[in-house]
Amino acid sequence: MTSTKPPGFSDRFALYRDPHPVRVATFAEDVRSGLGTRPMSLSPKYFYDDLGSALFEAITRLPEYYLTRVERDLLATYGREIAGALPGPLDLVELGSGSAVKTRLLIDAILERQPALTYHPVDISADAVTESSHALAASYEALRIIAYASDYFPLLREKRLVTHARVLALFLGSNIGNFEPDEARELLRLLAAARHPGDGLLVGYDLKKDPSILELAYDDPTGVTAAFNKNLLARMNRELGADFDLGAFRFRARWNEERGAVQSFLVSEREQRAHVPASDLTVDFAPGDTIHTESSYKFTREEIVALAADCGFAEKKTYTDTAGRYALSLLLVV
Ligand code: AVI
Repeated sequence: MTSTKPPGFSDRFALYRDPHPVRVATFAEDVRSGLGTRPMSLSPKYFYDDLGSALFEAITRLPEYYLTRVERDLLATYGREIAGALPGPLDLVELGSGSAVKTRLLIDAILERQPALTYHPVDISADAVTESSHALAASYEALRIIAYASDYFPLLREKRLVTHARVLALFLGSNIGNFEPDEARELLRLLAAARHPGDGLLVGYDLKKDPSILELAYDDPTGVTAAFNKNLLARMNRELGADFDLGAFRFRARWNEERGAVQSFLVSEREQRAHVPASDLTVDFAPGDTIHTESSYKFTREEIVALAADCGFAEKKTYTDTAGRYALSLLLVV
């Protein structure tokens, strides 16, 4: 961590860590199971080492990857209306807070309506959540931060997220799109069960659209998204002693109409063998063999509203850009 603590930070910041973290399979174990069976796959959570996080940050600046920009514009335009849509005072919860840059737009809007705010960011990375909390606490004296370094599922299942006011929860950045449909449903159900009637959930999601626009967003001509995916191979070489030849794989992102998702793959260009010593694994590839790296699900507003209704939420209002690319749905616990 590079930032120094802002004045009064210790009084305004608390970090809770998962008391009984479920044993998470290590990278080496996940690689062994993901590449040791067919079809081959790797979890997208392994994209985000330091280099991968920097590459994702670069993706959010690409002209083709409109999601981040459109979401930020929607929050800038409708943040005040969203903050005023629930009777306050509010506590703010954020799942997957990351750098929490977009959250500032909502914090600004809420602090126009109430003198102080408690913000509860939840992130798997204690470093990321502490660093973004430092930055926020330095910017807002009226902000108290109670952060959770935890997987969302145990935190919600065990009802460890304690709040004292009406809650507006944020699940932004199209993060819902990286969950498989069953997981997304379970997460929304747990969220509804952990909250009180009238609490709000703001979900940001990418709308279904012309597949050529989606495929360009996930396979940009600059090659940043390809590098983001190939970093998985590089990461196995760095951390697990593997010997993947990065030049012998190409990247492919395709819209899958049946699943309603853009699916990303690393594709072997030729017959080749790779060793992953830390996973005690040798993998043989034929030309065209694929490793599935990510699914990015897309939704219609109606699909999100139906999913939400099934999980205990009702739609209060949905905000979209004029081109209909991206949406923010404000849902209320019923
Ligand atoms: C973080 N997540 C919502 C991104 C997405 O759109 O699925 C990750 C990403 N993958 C390729 N480009 C961006």
